[in-house]
Amino acid sequence: SVDDRVAHLLALMTPQEKAGQMLQLDARGDLEDVVLAHHAGSVLHASPERLVAAHGLTARTRLRIPLLVGEDCIHGHSFFEGATIFPTQLGMAASWDADLLARVARATAVEASATGIHWTFSPVLCIARDLRWGRVNETFGEDPFLIGELASAMVRGYQGEGLDDATAVLACAKHFAGYSETQGGRDASEADLSRRKLRSWFLPPFERVAREGCRTFMLGYQTTDGVPITVNSWLLDEVLRGEWGYTGVLVTDWDNVGRMVWEQRVQPDHAHAAAAAVLAGNDLVMTTPGFFAGALEAIDRGMLAEKDLDRAVARILALKFELGLFEDPRLPERERQRAVVGSAEHARLNLEAARRSLVLLANDGTLPLAGGSADGAGGTAAGPAAEDGRTVAVVGPLADDAQTQLGDWAGSSGQADWLPNGQPRAMITTVLDGLRATVPAGWRVTEARGAEILSLTPDPEGALFPDGQPRPPVVAPAEPDDALIAEAVAAAREADYVVAVVGDRIELVGEGRSTATLELLGGQAALLEALAATGTPLVVVLLASKPLVLPPAAHGAAALVWAANPGMAGGQAVAELLLGLAEPSGRLPVSFPRHVGQQPTYYNQIRGQHGSRYADLTQTPAFAFGHGLSYSTVAYRDPAVADAGLTSADTLRVEVTVANTGSRPVRETVQLYIRDEVTSASWTDRELKAFRQVELAPGEERRVVLELPVADCSIVDAEGVRRVEPGEFEALVGPSSRPDSLLPVPFTVRTAD
Ligand code: IFM
Repeated sequence: SVDDRVAHLLALMTPQEKAGQMLQLDARGDLEDVVLAHHAGSVLHASPERLVAAHGLTARTRLRIPLLVGEDCIHGHSFFEGATIFPTQLGMAASWDADLLARVARATAVEASATGIHWTFSPVLCIARDLRWGRVNETFGEDPFLIGELASAMVRGYQGEGLDDATAVLACAKHFAGYSETQGGRDASEADLSRRKLRSWFLPPFERVAREGCRTFMLGYQTTDGVPITVNSWLLDEVLRGEWGYTGVLVTDWDNVGRMVWEQRVQPDHAHAAAAAVLAGNDLVMTTPGFFAGALEAIDRGMLAEKDLDRAVARILALKFELGLFEDPRLPERERQRAVVGSAEHARLNLEAARRSLVLLANDGTLPLAGGSADGAGGTAAGPAAEDGRTVAVVGPLADDAQTQLGDWAGSSGQADWLPNGQPRAMITTVLDGLRATVPAGWRVTEARGAEILSLTPDPEGALFPDGQPRPPVVAPAEPDDALIAEAVAAAREADYVVAVVGDRIELVGEGRSTATLELLGGQAALLEALAATGTPLVVVLLASKPLVLPPAAHGAAALVWAANPGMAGGQAVAELLLGLAEPSGRLPVSFPRHVGQQPTYYNQIRGQHGSRYADLTQTPAFAFGHGLSYSTVAYRDPAVADAGLTSADTLRVEVTVANTGSRPVRETVQLYIRDEVTSASWTDRELKAFRQVELAPGEERRVVLELPVADCSIVDAEGVRRVEPGEFEALVGPSSRPDSLLPVPFTVRTAD
């Protein structure tokens, strides 16, 4: 059995081999140092060539323990040239489609496993709170229930049928837990979290995937109540392993153990830091080479016993045995790689994901531009109707920006230094490419840049950090450029429609790249204002990694589409949507604020006192969680609860009639929120608890049923205990979280007999 094999191997291992087995080192470093000097059990960021070399070196080690190979395959095999890069996780979350996410994860696993990767550091289960945080794009948005649904689907997709399947990769739920509860949106800041707050919102998605068999968890960088997450034994040991019975591997984030010494200064040296990290329950220590000597010194000094390492090493070895790495180290397979990486099948899936990730935020009827409709007047089936000689001016700094379109974690991003393999331009369809390729015959596409977003200058401190990592350039908003604006205005004046592609750039996105503002930077707001003044119908496409604060010209535009970072096929998907070849179906997984000072704007905030409103601005978001339009109209009526008197052991069944009252097909996301009328401790006004997608032809209506265990209508009480409090509730059903879009149905939960 695996247990016997682990026990046998552990008995043979020296303390050095055990400390090394707990290390995950960067494979871009000196491989002899990694494998032979440090006995590393795992590597990350390895090209196939370096992987083969590293595996070769394990043959020179005493016990020939195979390496476990991890990589950040975040929305596709992020750093592998020619791999399929899907929309970002936040973009795909707008599909609200767990099955789609599972298929994307499966495709990613198939590509990654062919290149020798055993383990992806995905998905991210952090809750998007302050949107200034640079990593909002990596999340599934602001709602714990939606996060749990989508994360669980991705875990299933990555891990596949079982770890003995050669295309399975280990999933990793990160960043455990509360990392996103930043201060001022700044990355890795102290997270101000009580245990009750953790149990209320931040832990439930993690608990779900832990119980469903996600094999690894990764920590964040945050500190809570003075305790760095790396040594938070309450969370790591008591909650994760104790309460939830998690048996998988726990990996720190990048140099978390070292940071306790050199950055956070809560440990005097690596021996103390290593001892604290091991005793708190960590298994793998990411990129802290000093852990090796530190752990051995800690044993010599009596701060750690060798058996303390055994627990962690046993878990790592068990995973390696389950993956079958001792029999087959799953090296890169050239043939399979050629067949699956960036395959046509994955490109089709990518286009589907991109289509589904687009959210139509506003539309005065200008879209679709080609006037296509499902009743045969052009559009959906046959291609756009060919109204004569239309001209579309495509303007804006992001209309043809392949890099921004891919988003973070995509090779050629701001983290290009990580692996030198940007994605080939030819695989990427920008919005400009997409429109050029898709407009009906006889239409013209013109272009103008219109504005710059940033000006980038080399850092005066030098090109490299002291540790040799490249230092990013100094980023500043660009000044509006009158000449660029004039050129765009001229193009708009000569066009029937102007499509402005604006948003944020990759330098404003990612780990350590939070933003102080959420506004459209550089000359973009001035550009939109000038375009609006031309009178040509203005369609704004927001290529924005996260919700931004939009200027009046964007709110007043004829139509507004949020595309997030839509991946390689994103420009094609945008073009199809604008031209009416595809139906908009995305729904916001995160609210759009009106002003940066409203942060945070998430919908499920604690019911506040009247005084918590701003004097100078409404508290409501510009676009609410769950919002998204289609090209049709949808009516909700006759909501009902099957049994209005329930106990916490029952299932709540809510029905509503949903009718497509327009002339185009829709994919409607029917959302069910629960309101607990009176709670023993302060609680949110409504929480998403179920949703269902239905496809309705024009004129079609359907009775939609949503079910959930009444046990899910729970709150966390003042003692931190999650429970259902019997009393009066409301089921709120409708197309978004906006209160006036929801139909209420009361029901009662009584104490079980
Ligand atoms: O997986 C990432 C994590 O999300 C942030 N720090 C670095 C890790 C490995 O690249």
